Amino acid sequence: MEGRLRYRRRTVGLSIGLIVVVLAATLALAGEMGAALPKDFRSWTHTKSMVIPDKSHGLYGFHNIYTNDAALPTLKEGGTYKEGSAFVVSFYDVVVEGGTTVTGKKIQDVLMVKDKEATGTGGWIYAAYGPDGKPLQIDPVKACYECHEKGAKATDFVFSKYVD
Ligand code: HEC
Repeated sequence: MEGRLRYRRRTVGLSIGLIVVVLAATLALAGEMGAALPKDFRSWTHTKSMVIPDKSHGLYGFHNIYTNDAALPTLKEGGTYKEGSAFVVSFYDVVVEGGTTVTGKKIQDVLMVKDKEATGTGGWIYAAYGPDGKPLQIDPVKACYECHEKGAKATDFVFSKYVD
């Protein structure tokens, strides 16, 4: 009886150990892939739009910017963004039809999330997603951070201004 109990305890201990290892590996993988695109970002505050119609421009397209509740006060009043602050920009094709300029197909969504672990990119995670919502393989330093650092360091790396 004693022996069986000890054996059972060891098995339980081993199983817990295994679960911890698997969980850690999954989390490490998730970390490498960056943050997931928040599913509900369309219900955040729409803070501004902009159009860059020139197809050769790196930021071509319609931009709709959405800001979460954690980031909104700082976007309006200035200062340093708190942990968890987030922005999404949805990019759409620019389509001219019948005298109007409208949004075409989704090009991509880009995301910034304030995270103190992101020390190599100014304390923000940068990520991009295709129209299917799947993460795009980008180098966040070269593809994103370098431009945000150059142009928006004084406003905690955030370019856009709140539009009433
Ligand atoms: C060439 C410079 C440049 C590059 C490269 C760039 N951005 Fe931006 N980003 C901007 C500008 C300018 C804005 C403001 C756009 C507006 O006001 O509509 C902006 C806005 C944003 C915003 C909204 C918050 C803010 O700063 O206004 C997010 C989120 C964002 N970019 C993420 C990214 C990600 C992720 C990448 C890399 C995949 C990236 N950006 C690459 C210039 C850049």
